[in-house]
Amino acid sequence: MEVVVLPNARAIGELAADAVASLLGTARTAVLGLATGSSPLAIYDELVRRQQAGLISFAHAKAFMLDEYVGLAPDHPQRYRNVIEREFTGRVDFAADAVHGPDGNAADIPAACAAYERAIAGAGGVDLQLLGIGSDGHVAFNEPGSSLVSRTRLKTLTAQTVADNARFFDGDPDAVPRHVLTQGLGTIVEARHLVLVATGQGKAEAVHQMVEGGVGALWPASILQFHPHATVLVDGPAASRLQLADYYRQTYAAKPKWQGL
Ligand code: GLP
Repeated sequence: MEVVVLPNARAIGELAADAVASLLGTARTAVLGLATGSSPLAIYDELVRRQQAGLISFAHAKAFMLDEYVGLAPDHPQRYRNVIEREFTGRVDFAADAVHGPDGNAADIPAACAAYERAIAGAGGVDLQLLGIGSDGHVAFNEPGSSLVSRTRLKTLTAQTVADNARFFDGDPDAVPRHVLTQGLGTIVEARHLVLVATGQGKAEAVHQMVEGGVGALWPASILQFHPHATVLVDGPAASRLQLADYYRQTYAAKPKWQGL
Protein backbone atom coordinates (compact mmCIF):
# COMPACT_ATOMS: atom_id res chain seq x y z
CA MET A 1 0.00 0.00 0.00
CA GLU A 2 1.24 3.45 -0.85
CA VAL A 3 0.46 6.29 1.54
CA VAL A 4 0.88 9.86 0.29
CA VAL A 5 0.61 12.72 2.77
CA LEU A 6 -0.41 15.93 1.03
CA PRO A 7 -0.96 19.49 2.25
CA ASN A 8 -4.70 19.72 1.67
CA ALA A 9 -7.81 18.41 -0.09
CA ARG A 10 -7.00 20.36 -3.22
CA ALA A 11 -3.60 18.68 -3.60
CA ILE A 12 -5.27 15.32 -3.01
CA GLY A 13 -7.83 16.16 -5.68
CA GLU A 14 -5.15 17.05 -8.20
CA LEU A 15 -3.11 13.89 -7.64
CA ALA A 16 -6.14 11.61 -7.78
CA ALA A 17 -7.31 13.43 -10.92
CA ASP A 18 -3.89 12.74 -12.49
CA ALA A 19 -4.47 9.00 -11.97
CA VAL A 20 -7.96 9.21 -13.49
CA ALA A 21 -6.65 11.30 -16.40
CA SER A 22 -3.91 8.82 -17.20
CA LEU A 23 -6.48 6.00 -17.18
CA LEU A 24 -8.77 7.98 -19.53
CA GLY A 25 -5.78 8.52 -21.81
CA THR A 26 -5.45 4.80 -22.50
CA ALA A 27 -7.11 3.48 -25.65
CA ARG A 28 -9.73 1.20 -24.13
CA THR A 29 -12.96 2.09 -22.34
CA ALA A 30 -12.13 3.24 -18.83
CA VAL A 31 -14.28 1.89 -16.01
CA LEU A 32 -14.34 4.17 -12.99
CA GLY A 33 -15.61 3.34 -9.52
CA LEU A 34 -17.24 6.36 -7.89
CA ALA A 35 -17.66 7.13 -4.20
CA THR A 36 -20.06 9.59 -2.61
CA GLY A 37 -19.44 11.54 0.59
CA SER A 38 -17.49 14.74 1.03
CA SER A 39 -14.00 13.23 0.65
CA PRO A 40 -13.95 12.84 -3.16
CA LEU A 41 -15.47 16.26 -3.88
CA ALA A 42 -12.13 17.94 -4.56
CA ILE A 43 -11.30 15.15 -7.04
CA TYR A 44 -14.59 15.63 -8.85
CA ASP A 45 -14.15 19.41 -8.99
CA GLU A 46 -10.70 18.97 -10.50
CA LEU A 47 -11.95 16.41 -13.04
CA VAL A 48 -14.78 18.77 -14.03
CA ARG A 49 -12.26 21.58 -14.46
CA ARG A 50 -10.05 19.42 -16.70
CA GLN A 51 -12.97 18.16 -18.78
CA GLN A 52 -14.28 21.68 -19.32
CA ALA A 53 -10.78 22.76 -20.31
CA GLY A 54 -10.79 20.01 -22.95
CA LEU A 55 -7.94 18.10 -21.30
CA ILE A 56 -9.91 14.90 -20.64
CA SER A 57 -13.19 13.34 -21.70
CA PHE A 58 -15.52 10.78 -20.11
CA ALA A 59 -17.42 10.23 -23.36
CA HIS A 60 -16.14 6.66 -23.69
CA ALA A 61 -15.91 5.87 -19.96
CA LYS A 62 -18.27 3.92 -17.74
CA ALA A 63 -18.84 4.40 -14.03
CA PHE A 64 -20.12 2.22 -11.20
CA MET A 65 -21.16 3.64 -7.87
CA LEU A 66 -20.24 1.94 -4.61
CA ASP A 67 -23.47 2.13 -2.71
CA GLU A 68 -26.98 3.52 -2.31
CA TYR A 69 -29.56 4.15 0.39
CA VAL A 70 -32.59 1.86 0.42
CA GLY A 71 -36.03 3.39 0.04
CA LEU A 72 -35.29 7.03 -0.76
CA ALA A 73 -37.68 8.47 -3.35
CA PRO A 74 -36.19 8.63 -6.87
CA ASP A 75 -36.03 12.43 -6.69
CA HIS A 76 -34.70 12.62 -3.12
CA PRO A 77 -31.66 14.94 -3.15
CA GLN A 78 -29.64 12.58 -0.93
CA ARG A 79 -30.24 9.49 -3.03
CA TYR A 80 -26.63 8.70 -4.02
CA ARG A 81 -27.63 8.39 -7.67
CA ASN A 82 -28.76 12.04 -7.52
CA VAL A 83 -25.81 13.14 -5.40
CA ILE A 84 -23.23 11.79 -7.83
CA GLU A 85 -25.03 13.31 -10.81
CA ARG A 86 -25.17 16.71 -9.10
CA GLU A 87 -21.60 16.64 -7.85
CA PHE A 88 -19.85 14.97 -10.73
CA THR A 89 -21.32 12.91 -13.53
CA GLY A 90 -23.91 15.50 -14.61
CA ARG A 91 -21.15 18.13 -14.87
CA VAL A 92 -19.02 16.20 -17.35
CA ASP A 93 -19.58 14.40 -20.65
CA PHE A 94 -20.50 10.86 -19.60
CA ALA A 95 -22.88 9.16 -22.06
CA ALA A 96 -26.46 8.97 -20.80
CA ASP A 97 -26.38 5.26 -19.93
CA ALA A 98 -22.77 5.11 -18.72
CA VAL A 99 -23.29 5.62 -14.97
CA HIS A 100 -24.58 2.74 -12.89
CA GLY A 101 -25.55 2.27 -9.25
CA PRO A 102 -27.24 -0.32 -7.07
CA ASP A 103 -31.05 -0.03 -7.16
CA GLY A 104 -32.12 0.93 -3.64
CA ASN A 105 -35.77 0.80 -4.63
CA ALA A 106 -35.75 -2.68 -6.17
CA ALA A 107 -38.67 -4.95 -5.23
CA ASP A 108 -36.26 -7.90 -5.15
CA ILE A 109 -33.14 -6.67 -3.36
CA PRO A 110 -31.03 -9.85 -3.63
CA ALA A 111 -31.78 -10.06 -7.37
CA ALA A 112 -30.85 -6.39 -7.83
CA CYS A 113 -27.57 -6.94 -5.97
CA ALA A 114 -26.74 -9.97 -8.10
CA ALA A 115 -27.59 -8.01 -11.25
CA TYR A 116 -25.27 -5.22 -10.15
CA GLU A 117 -22.41 -7.67 -9.68
CA ARG A 118 -23.06 -9.02 -13.18
CA ALA A 119 -23.09 -5.50 -14.63
CA ILE A 120 -19.68 -4.71 -13.12
CA ALA A 121 -18.24 -7.99 -14.36
CA GLY A 122 -19.86 -7.46 -17.78
CA ALA A 123 -18.07 -4.14 -18.11
CA GLY A 124 -14.78 -5.93 -17.54
CA GLY A 125 -14.43 -4.88 -13.89
CA VAL A 126 -13.45 -1.54 -12.40
CA ASP A 127 -10.11 -0.05 -13.46
CA LEU A 128 -9.81 2.64 -10.80
CA GLN A 129 -11.99 2.75 -7.71
CA LEU A 130 -12.22 5.97 -5.71
CA LEU A 131 -12.92 5.40 -2.03
CA GLY A 132 -13.55 7.40 1.11
CA ILE A 133 -13.47 6.00 4.62
CA GLY A 134 -15.96 6.34 7.45
CA SER A 135 -14.83 7.40 10.90
CA ASP A 136 -15.61 3.83 12.02
CA GLY A 137 -13.42 2.42 9.25
CA HIS A 138 -16.17 1.53 6.79
CA VAL A 139 -15.60 1.65 3.04
CA ALA A 140 -18.63 2.13 0.81
CA PHE A 141 -21.22 1.01 3.38
CA ASN A 142 -19.33 -2.04 4.62
CA GLU A 143 -19.71 -1.45 8.33
CA PRO A 144 -17.56 -3.09 11.03
CA GLY A 145 -18.33 -6.79 11.10
CA SER A 146 -18.61 -7.04 7.31
CA SER A 147 -17.31 -10.19 5.70
CA LEU A 148 -13.95 -9.54 4.12
CA VAL A 149 -15.11 -11.45 1.02
CA SER A 150 -18.62 -9.95 0.86
CA ARG A 151 -20.42 -9.10 -2.38
CA THR A 152 -23.06 -6.46 -3.15
CA ARG A 153 -25.82 -6.80 -0.56
CA LEU A 154 -28.12 -5.10 1.95
CA LYS A 155 -26.45 -3.67 5.07
CA THR A 156 -27.72 -1.90 8.18
CA LEU A 157 -25.91 1.30 9.14
CA THR A 158 -24.23 1.68 12.52
CA ALA A 159 -25.38 4.43 14.88
CA GLN A 160 -22.03 6.15 14.20
CA THR A 161 -22.62 6.28 10.43
CA VAL A 162 -26.21 7.43 10.91
CA ALA A 163 -24.93 10.25 13.13
CA ASP A 164 -22.11 11.11 10.68
CA ASN A 165 -24.48 11.22 7.69
CA ALA A 166 -27.25 13.16 9.46
CA ARG A 167 -25.51 16.34 8.28
CA PHE A 168 -26.75 15.53 4.79
CA PHE A 169 -30.33 15.19 6.11
CA ASP A 170 -30.72 18.61 7.80
CA GLY A 171 -29.00 17.24 10.91
CA ASP A 172 -31.86 14.81 11.56
CA PRO A 173 -30.61 11.26 12.27
CA ASP A 174 -34.17 9.92 11.99
CA ALA A 175 -34.22 11.00 8.34
CA VAL A 176 -31.18 8.82 7.50
CA PRO A 177 -32.24 5.46 6.05
CA ARG A 178 -31.11 2.53 8.23
CA HIS A 179 -30.64 0.24 5.24
CA VAL A 180 -28.31 0.53 2.27
CA LEU A 181 -27.05 -1.51 -0.66
CA THR A 182 -23.29 -1.65 -0.98
CA GLN A 183 -20.64 -3.33 -3.04
CA GLY A 184 -19.01 -5.89 -0.78
CA LEU A 185 -15.40 -5.81 0.32
CA GLY A 186 -14.77 -8.74 -2.01
CA THR A 187 -16.31 -6.75 -4.86
CA ILE A 188 -14.32 -3.61 -4.14
CA VAL A 189 -10.93 -5.32 -3.96
CA GLU A 190 -11.43 -6.74 -7.46
CA ALA A 191 -10.94 -3.23 -8.86
CA ARG A 192 -7.49 -3.03 -10.41
CA HIS A 193 -6.44 0.16 -8.59
CA LEU A 194 -7.90 1.47 -5.33
CA VAL A 195 -7.47 5.17 -4.50
CA LEU A 196 -8.73 6.01 -1.02
CA VAL A 197 -8.84 9.63 0.12
CA ALA A 198 -9.26 10.95 3.67
CA THR A 199 -8.95 14.37 5.23
CA GLY A 200 -9.26 15.74 8.74
CA GLN A 201 -8.55 14.62 12.27
CA GLY A 202 -11.85 12.74 12.45
CA LYS A 203 -10.42 10.12 10.07
CA ALA A 204 -7.02 9.75 11.79
CA GLU A 205 -7.80 6.64 13.83
CA ALA A 206 -9.59 4.92 10.94
CA VAL A 207 -6.65 5.68 8.61
CA HIS A 208 -4.15 4.33 11.16
CA GLN A 209 -6.14 1.12 11.64
CA MET A 210 -6.61 0.68 7.89
CA VAL A 211 -2.94 1.08 7.01
CA GLU A 212 -1.13 -0.18 10.09
CA GLY A 213 -3.58 -2.23 12.14
CA GLY A 214 -4.39 -5.91 11.86
CA VAL A 215 -6.59 -6.90 8.95
CA GLY A 216 -10.03 -7.68 10.25
CA ALA A 217 -13.74 -7.02 10.11
CA LEU A 218 -13.63 -4.48 12.96
CA TRP A 219 -11.91 -2.02 10.59
CA PRO A 220 -13.27 -3.06 7.19
CA ALA A 221 -10.96 -0.73 5.24
CA SER A 222 -8.01 -2.79 6.49
CA ILE A 223 -8.84 -5.18 3.62
CA LEU A 224 -6.87 -2.74 1.44
CA GLN A 225 -3.71 -4.26 2.92
CA PHE A 226 -4.43 -7.33 0.79
CA HIS A 227 -4.72 -5.33 -2.43
CA PRO A 228 -1.67 -5.26 -4.74
CA HIS A 229 -2.29 -1.68 -5.89
CA ALA A 230 -3.86 0.46 -3.18
CA THR A 231 -3.09 4.16 -2.86
CA VAL A 232 -4.06 6.18 0.21
CA LEU A 233 -4.07 9.98 -0.14
CA VAL A 234 -4.36 11.86 3.16
CA ASP A 235 -3.84 15.33 4.55
CA GLY A 236 -1.72 16.03 7.66
CA PRO A 237 -4.54 15.73 10.21
CA ALA A 238 -5.79 12.43 8.74
CA ALA A 239 -2.17 11.18 8.81
CA SER A 240 -1.59 12.28 12.39
CA ARG A 241 -1.99 8.81 13.95
CA LEU A 242 0.20 7.02 11.41
CA GLN A 243 3.15 5.39 13.12
CA LEU A 244 5.25 5.38 9.94
CA ALA A 245 4.21 8.82 8.64
CA ASP A 246 7.81 9.99 8.27
CA TYR A 247 8.67 6.92 6.23
CA TYR A 248 5.67 7.43 3.93
CA ARG A 249 6.73 11.05 3.37
CA GLN A 250 10.34 10.07 2.61
CA THR A 251 9.23 7.32 0.27
CA TYR A 252 6.95 9.56 -1.75
CA ALA A 253 9.55 12.34 -1.90
CA ALA A 254 12.04 9.85 -3.36
CA LYS A 255 9.58 8.20 -5.75
CA PRO A 256 10.61 8.09 -9.41
CA LYS A 257 8.13 10.30 -11.28
CA TRP A 258 7.63 7.74 -14.06
CA GLN A 259 5.90 5.45 -11.61
CA GLY A 260 2.82 7.63 -11.27
CA LEU A 261 0.35 6.49 -8.64
C1 GLP B 1 -20.43 7.45 3.59
C2 GLP B 1 -20.25 6.72 2.24
C3 GLP B 1 -18.84 6.28 2.04
C4 GLP B 1 -17.93 7.42 2.44
C5 GLP B 1 -18.00 7.64 3.92
C6 GLP B 1 -17.24 8.88 4.38
O1 GLP B 1 -21.34 6.88 4.45
N1 GLP B 1 -21.13 5.60 2.06
O2 GLP B 1 -18.63 5.91 0.69
O3 GLP B 1 -16.61 7.12 2.11
O4 GLP B 1 -19.30 7.60 4.40
O5 GLP B 1 -17.90 10.04 4.03
P1 GLP B 1 -17.19 11.45 3.99
O6 GLP B 1 -16.25 11.41 2.86
O7 GLP B 1 -18.30 12.44 3.78
O8 GLP B 1 -16.51 11.61 5.30
